[in-house]
Amino acid sequence: MLYNESLYQELSSSEPKPGVVSNSSPAAHGSANPSPLPPLQDQFGRTFDYVRIAVTEKCNLRCTYCMPEEGVDFKKGDQILQADEIIRTIGVLARMGIKKVRFTGGEPLVRKDIVKLVEGAAGTPGIKTVHLTTNGILFSRYAKDLLAAGLTGVNISLDSLDADKFQRITRRTGVEKVLDSIRLALDLGFPRVKVNVVLMRGFNEDELPAFCELTKDLAVTVRFIEFMPFDAHQIWETGEHFASAENMVNQMKTLYPGIMDSSGTRTEHHIFQAPGYAGKMAVIPAFTRSLCGNCSRIRLTADGRIRNCLYSDDEYDLKTPLRTGGSDDDLAAVFRTAFAEKAKDGFESKKRSAVKRVNIADIGRVSMTQIGG
Ligand code: GTP
Ligand code: 5AD
Ligand code: SF4
Repeated sequence: MLYNESLYQELSSSEPKPGVVSNSSPAAHGSANPSPLPPLQDQFGRTFDYVRIAVTEKCNLRCTYCMPEEGVDFKKGDQILQADEIIRTIGVLARMGIKKVRFTGGEPLVRKDIVKLVEGAAGTPGIKTVHLTTNGILFSRYAKDLLAAGLTGVNISLDSLDADKFQRITRRTGVEKVLDSIRLALDLGFPRVKVNVVLMRGFNEDELPAFCELTKDLAVTVRFIEFMPFDAHQIWETGEHFASAENMVNQMKTLYPGIMDSSGTRTEHHIFQAPGYAGKMAVIPAFTRSLCGNCSRIRLTADGRIRNCLYSDDEYDLKTPLRTGGSDDDLAAVFRTAFAEKAKDGFESKKRSAVKRVNIADIGRVSMTQIGG
C-alpha cells in the first residue's frame, strides 16, 4: 500500500488543510447545530460528514470521456431539485453531523441560482466548508459573489494546457478562460484552489511535468486523476487510455528527487510538495478504489436521488418525500436506509449492481455528469 496511514488518520475530509486555509478569508459561517440528530453511519463503522450535491446535469463543455457530442438526456425543470429543497436537505444533513458540502454537476455554474445555493449552505448551522467543482469556464463571472456567499474552496478541472488538445478533449475552446479562473481564484484569496487533471495515456500523459510546474509559483494543488470507467457512451476505452496512479507517483518522484510527502483530503491518496514550490501535487486513484475504508461521502444527484457509493447504481429517492410533505425525520430516514445498505467498498458495490443489471442501459446514468463525480 502506497499511502501513509498515519497521515491519513490525521485528516478529516471536512477539516481545513494545515497551512492552506487563511483565517482571514470569508468562510462558511454555520455555527454549531442547535438540534442534532444521531450521526449518519454504516454497518462498517464509517461516519459520513461530506455531501456532494450535483445541482445540474447540464454542462457547457463536452469532454469526450464524459459525454457524447450531442450531450445526454439532461434532466431539467421540475425533474431537478429546487434551491429551497437543496438547502433544506443540507439543513437535515447538518443536523446529522455533515460538515462539508461540495456542489458539482454537470457544470454547477450553469445553474443560475448557484450563488444562492452557496449562501444557503454556508449559512447552515453546522456546515464548516462549502466547495465547488467547476470546469472554470464561467468562474470569473461569479467568483467575487461566490466568495462573498461563503465559498471556501474551488476545484477547477483542466485536462490540457495546450489550446488544441483542450479543444479536442472538451469539444469547445477556452483553455485561457480556465487558466484565468485559476489565477483569479488565487488572487481573490479563496482558501483552497485545486486543479483536477484526468490523466490519459496517449493523450495528455506527457503534460504531467508541465502541470506539476504550475505548483512552482501557484499555491494550488494539482491533482492527477486516474481515469474512471464511466464511459458507456464514450470514445475512451479504459484499458487503452488508463494511466495508473502508481505510474503518476513514480513520474513525480523522478522529476523531483527531493519531493516531500504532504497532507491533503481523502481523495488525495498520494500528495507531495516539491522543495521550494508554492503548491502541491497529488494523485487521485479511481480504479484502485483504495479510499473506501475511510469513505465519508454522501452523493445526491441533481434529480434528488441519494447514492451511497460512486460505484453503486442503487439509488434512494429523496425528491418524493421532499415534495410530498415529508418531515425532516423522514428525509433523515432515507439517508439512513441508503447508508445502512452501503457495501464495504467500491468493488463490492459494483459487483452488487452488476448482478441486478441486465444490460448497460439499465443503469439509467451513462455519464459522470448524471452522477456528480
Ligand atoms: P476535495 O474535497 O478537494 O478532496 O475534492 P474531491 O476530490 O472530493 O472532489 P472533486 O469533485 O474535485 O473530484 C475529484 C475527482 O475525485 C473526480 O474524478 C471524482 O470523480 C473523484 N472522486 C470523488 N469521489 C470519489 C470517491 O469516492 N472515490 C474515488 N475513487 N474517486 C472519487
Ligand atoms: N474519470 C475520472 N474523472 C472524471 N471526471 C469526469 N469524468 C471522469 C472519468 N470518467 C472528472 C472531471 C472533474 C471531476 C468532477 O470528475 O474531469 O475534474
Ligand atoms: Fe462537463 Fe465536467 Fe463532463 Fe467535462 S467532465 S463535459 S466539464 S461535466
